[in-house]
Amino acid sequence: MTQLSPARKPAAEPAATPPAEPGKTLYGGTRSRRVTVRDIAAAKRRGEKWPMLTAYDAMTASVFDGAGIPVLLVGDSMGNCHLGYESTVPVTMDEIALLSAAVVRGTDRALIVADLPFGAYQEGPVQALRNATRLVKETGAGAVKLEGGERSAHQVELLVSAGIPVMAHIGLTPQSVHAFGGYPVQGRGEEAAAQLLRDAKAVQDAGAFAVVLEAVPAELAAEVTRSLQIPTVGIGAGAECDAQVLVWTDMAGMTAGRVPKFVKQYLALRELLGDAAKEFAEEVCAGTFPEERHTFH
Ligand code: KIV
Repeated sequence: MTQLSPARKPAAEPAATPPAEPGKTLYGGTRSRRVTVRDIAAAKRRGEKWPMLTAYDAMTASVFDGAGIPVLLVGDSMGNCHLGYESTVPVTMDEIALLSAAVVRGTDRALIVADLPFGAYQEGPVQALRNATRLVKETGAGAVKLEGGERSAHQVELLVSAGIPVMAHIGLTPQSVHAFGGYPVQGRGEEAAAQLLRDAKAVQDAGAFAVVLEAVPAELAAEVTRSLQIPTVGIGAGAECDAQVLVWTDMAGMTAGRVPKFVKQYLALRELLGDAAKEFAEEVCAGTFPEERHTFH
């Protein structure tokens, strides 16, 4: 097993960086090339906040890329949001690879982060490297994500040393749903908060370029954000994280039923799409679609 080198420094430099030149901010910039992990480190040094969304197909990804979202995550949330599973646990490497390649093809600018699914890295660093290498080579993704802090630090270190940027994910890690017995808020209480801080430092020291903090108290997420040189990406972790991520189907109001407290729905897409489908069906049944202008002669 690879040994962690305790003194390893993260990619981000501690020195303050001047504000971005006009057009060079991570969100809202006019850069024509793909966003890289160096751009993300520079945004942290500038104190610039940025948005991240999930994407699972080329067409939706192209909308978000066109909207300037700098980082798109092909999350294993595709299990619940795209593939009809009850959790992220059944998602396979083949599914992540297929949809990551589609998202890369649908985008020109965003950094694409492909999730390592449950069972693809828990055996150890060598398994993690094999699967992460596959995702980067086959799909064109620019980075991978995996869950776990101290427990995944050896995996992070080997991937980073092989040239694969890693986004870590701590706090509520949905692949552990069976161990958690659901999706409870993490990091409450002194010992749990201290563990979360240790987890954050462990992935930073192992070389992760960013860390997702899911479902943790805002005060703790703020403390983690202040104490790290790499950006924190919050989901249910309050406003002081460096970045915020939402699952796109939650953000757009496509998800059926109740959504978690941390979700803001910016659109009622499920209702709009249902209405459009009904209008189409009614016109077909009434014989008013297709009209002359939709008809070949
Ligand atoms: O799979 C996913 O979409 C995620 C985000 C919620 C961070 O891990």
